[in-house]
Amino acid sequence: MLNYSPNCERNQQPIFEQLQGLLTDSRHVLEVGSGSGQHALFFARRFPWLSWQPTELMMNHEALKLNLMEEAVENILPPQILDVCQAGWGVDYADAVFTANTLHIMGWPQVECFFAGAGAALEPGGQLIVYGPFRYEGDYTSASNAEFDQWLKQRDPVSGIRDFEAVNALAEAVGLQLSADVTMPANNQLLVWRKSEV
Ligand SMILES: C[S@@+](CC[C@H](N)C(=O)[O-])C[C@H]1O[C@@H](n2cnc3c(N)ncnc32)[C@H](O)[C@@H]1O
Repeated sequence: MLNYSPNCERNQQPIFEQLQGLLTDSRHVLEVGSGSGQHALFFARRFPWLSWQPTELMMNHEALKLNLMEEAVENILPPQILDVCQAGWGVDYADAVFTANTLHIMGWPQVECFFAGAGAALEPGGQLIVYGPFRYEGDYTSASNAEFDQWLKQRDPVSGIRDFEAVNALAEAVGLQLSADVTMPANNQLLVWRKSEV
């Protein structure tokens, strides 16, 4: 598998256990920043009633496509190229948007694009589900997350662990209300917002 992620391997079961309670009534999930496609493969197999749309930046799209072609899971759609800041996400219907470990990798302008794009792509009543590390009231949830943030910033100064309050403000600005904030293993969170019905 190209771009294989050991982290993905570790977090997929705990994320799956949360998604079980969230995606029972969903039909179509748009995944942003699918990486290797490991999450798409793991979740799509376990939620056969869903269609799962993986996406990636142009530079990572080919690897994702090759990984998914090897497995041929029926309810995974052909991966699309998606940069969160592109004009229009080209989505016809999405009642859930999922992303894992992307908001601390992209720069803040891209995080703003992400919430604007997800808010526009989601159907009324749809859910935005975000997995990753966050800070609360300026505090890290662990010493290891503080170290991870330093490491991220040394590698790329625009990246870094995001403040929950700041991302929640972006979500609210596009009509998304927080419906769950679940503490996950390894100092991560699963944040869920729901788009209002009207
Ligand atoms: C740490 S990887 C996470 C991959 C996968 N979701 C996982 O959990 O293993 C971060 C991903 O964010 C994607 N990404 C970064 N900037 C992006 C952007 N502007 N639009 C869409 N995806 C982006 C990268 O291409 C990369 O695959």
